[in-house]
Amino acid sequence: MAGKPQPDAAGPRDPRVPRHVAIIMDGNGRWAKARGLPRGAGHKQGAEAARRAVRAAGEAGVECLTLYAFSSENWRRPEEEINDLTGLLRFYIQKELDGFHKEGVRLRVLGDHNAFAPDVARMVDKAIERTRDNGRMTVAVALNYGARGELVRAMRTLGGRIAAGALAPDAIDEAMVDSVLDTSGLPPLDLLIRTSGEYRLSNFLLWQAAYAELIFTDTLWPDFGADQLRAALDEYARRERRYGGL
Ligand code: FPP
Repeated sequence: MAGKPQPDAAGPRDPRVPRHVAIIMDGNGRWAKARGLPRGAGHKQGAEAARRAVRAAGEAGVECLTLYAFSSENWRRPEEEINDLTGLLRFYIQKELDGFHKEGVRLRVLGDHNAFAPDVARMVDKAIERTRDNGRMTVAVALNYGARGELVRAMRTLGGRIAAGALAPDAIDEAMVDSVLDTSGLPPLDLLIRTSGEYRLSNFLLWQAAYAELIFTDTLWPDFGADQLRAALDEYARRERRYGGL
């Protein structure tokens, strides 16, 4: 499965399949609470759901799946929960990387993962480096990510170029802004899914979601599986996208 995508060999892609799907994986805590389990147990099942979603998205022909695993606001959670999430990240990179690599998955990170423990940050760097030439699918994991922070960093980058005399403000266009965001080089966001019956973007992909289709489901993230992903993709296929036109 590994290797570059071959659009010619595969024929033209089906426009009803979203190229880029992002998921706000919400409801792990409530899933655990409903079972009298600690929140960490919900995150553990949530990580399993993330693994299932990657496989199902790849099988459906989605080019890029972006997962909101840890927001820049999640540092406000109790230390024990932060440790649980960091531990899961460590565990899954070790356990799943070989399999994903063999399946042609390229890993990207949105946000600044250097805020995590040094061993985790190094592990993430190595995983990105190891999978960088894979072309079947990209999995972008948002780690210590917040969309406003991403936009501030992008503005600083462009501001720095202006201050250095290398860029005229009038030369800034949407494509240039795209190119300095964490998602640079990824396909445009087509579909954003949020689980657990919450109707918010929670500082996720604010620029990129401008024309994305939004799907909200009551399913708690640990209960989200291949069937739920396929249902969301089916709903996307039925939507008519007009981008402000008629
Ligand atoms: C929201 O549920 C979920 C998170 C803050 C973390 C998402 C993390 C995972 C799915 C596991 C780790 C992922 C990887 C890729 C290793 P919540 O805790 O806010 O749920 P609640 O609203 O019910 O309390």
